[in-house]
Amino acid sequence: MKRKTITIDIYESDTSEELEKEDSTLLSHALEATSGAYTPYSHFQVGAAVRLSNGAIVTGSNQENAAYPSGLCAERTALFYAQSQYPHLSIEAIAIAAKSNGEQTTEPVYPCGACRQVMLEAQKRAAYPIRIIMGGAQKIQMVGCVGDLLPLTFEKF
Ligand code: THU
Repeated sequence: MKRKTITIDIYESDTSEELEKEDSTLLSHALEATSGAYTPYSHFQVGAAVRLSNGAIVTGSNQENAAYPSGLCAERTALFYAQSQYPHLSIEAIAIAAKSNGEQTTEPVYPCGACRQVMLEAQKRAAYPIRIIMGGAQKIQMVGCVGDLLPLTFEKF
């Protein structure tokens, strides 16, 4: 067997000042969106902000439920809302931030597998790369497209 290695480019900074202005604005919206989270079970508030091709920003937050699987992550809340309200616009970028005990996490929060899968579908649907900005208070990371977080994806041939 031949060994193959997948490399991904992750852009990292300890400050949002190094982001493009519109991405840093998006990240601020994601952090603000944590205030809408409903998290009586995890006490962990996640916010996501999606920027559409017309510049509009849509946000979402995690919504939990006593029947645990019924809850939804912040990213999918924002993505599904964006797609249902603006089905003909592509998604340019998504930013994610989270708070725990009232404070923003120091490290970036990474989207779960299910959210990555939904991002991938959105990217394929519009045939436009979605940039992902993951913000912590002391570290911000960015990747240029969903495949960087979800390589080797399912395709039906
Ligand atoms: N959560 C998100 O909102 N996004 C993710 O990508 C991972 C996890 C939420 C789900 C749950 O409400 C809380 O974080 C703790 O797992």
